[in-house]
Amino acid sequence: MLIKVLGSAAGGGFPQWNCNGRMSANARHGKPGFSARTQSSLTVSSNGRDWLLLNASPDLRQQINQTCELWPSADGPLRSSPIKAAVLTNGDVDHIIGLINLREGQPLSLYASDRVLATVNANSVFNVLNPEKVDRVELAMDTPTPLTGAGLALGITIEAFDVPGKVALYLEDASKGDSFGTEKGDTIGIKVTDEGTGKSFFYIPGCAAVDGPLAEHVRGAELVMFDGTLYTDDEMIAQGLMPKSGHRMGHISMSGTEGSVAAFDSLNVARKVFIHINNSNPVLDDNSPERKAVENAGWEVSYDGMEIQL
Ligand code: MLT
Ligand code: MN
Repeated sequence: MLIKVLGSAAGGGFPQWNCNGRMSANARHGKPGFSARTQSSLTVSSNGRDWLLLNASPDLRQQINQTCELWPSADGPLRSSPIKAAVLTNGDVDHIIGLINLREGQPLSLYASDRVLATVNANSVFNVLNPEKVDRVELAMDTPTPLTGAGLALGITIEAFDVPGKVALYLEDASKGDSFGTEKGDTIGIKVTDEGTGKSFFYIPGCAAVDGPLAEHVRGAELVMFDGTLYTDDEMIAQGLMPKSGHRMGHISMSGTEGSVAAFDSLNVARKVFIHINNSNPVLDDNSPERKAVENAGWEVSYDGMEIQL
């Protein structure tokens, strides 16, 4: 199974269009050590021919153009694409808006939880993916689901499970108190298994906490690609960017006793990779002490174009 990181940044990307903070400004001006990154998405294939998107970021068109595996085959039909299916892990803008790029009558299958599918179904703009050609398939939780796309078996099985998180920002209901109306299925993690080799990895780009059930899912895994939004819970406040903490946004931070680095310490995961990294996170500075700290703790910081063969 080949995994390619299409976009390693969180919503807004790196740099973010309207951000003059130190991190974004350095990335914008090409300062060494500050590599620009597009928004959160991976692509996976078990056979090198048919590809699955894990989330569809607003930068998908650029990501496809930068990834030759996702181009129409040179000797293929006039209209074709190796992208056969997409799985959505939440309804966040950075994970669903790229679907719009997949119009033009191309057959594929779209997999998501009942909650996220309801959001897609409620927005008629997504009907530009012709419903006669694009299946919308509800992912049952905690159930291995062999994926098909455009009528083909992809050789990949997905197992989706609910993780601690928050409903998408634009769906928050302030009348529902601290939960903002979050329900099961709003944020999922997935286990992705190559049916041929039996190898698997976990993809969890949004997560508010590593609770007991999540720890048991990932314990002993060969690879986990995990929410790296923030380094410290208050970093956006401290940098004067936004009055929101990571906790308020539904994201665990890397550092601290409650953070992801500490939480994974005893879980015996062979390879740990941060993805969905916010432009405020100092680990995006290759030479920062925070970058060294996570690397010393056995984590990798993903970048656009990163490839992992399992
Ligand atoms: C998130 O990951 O918390 C969201 O993508 C935030 C947003 O919608 O900007
Ligand atoms: Mn996001």
